[in-house]
Amino acid sequence: MSRRPARSRDAQAPAPREVALTLEGRRITAPEGTTVAAALIAAGIDAWRTTRRGGRPRGMFCGIGVCYDCLLRIDGYADQRACLVEVADGMVLGEPGAPAPDPEEGR
Ligand code: FES
Repeated sequence: MSRRPARSRDAQAPAPREVALTLEGRRITAPEGTTVAAALIAAGIDAWRTTRRGGRPRGMFCGIGVCYDCLLRIDGYADQRACLVEVADGMVLGEPGAPAPDPEEGR
């Protein structure tokens, strides 16, 4: 009997499609299915907001939607938890409290 594990279906699955998003004008690419927080960290960005008092940097802490440290404006929706939202092509990211984009101006 062989001790070698059987090939899983994942080993034969095609590589996930890359999507592009922007954080305050900086272009980032990530594999489809990645969370926004993971995409930012993979791009070398480990803090994307600051605390109201003290201006201390914040990014991903718990990674499971509990701590709210990763808040971010995602496609105009304020205070989204970046660790819970999957990336999408053309996604626009910004500061958590930034004003919503003017729908008349587009993106
Ligand atoms: S990292 Fe804790 S809620 Fe997102």
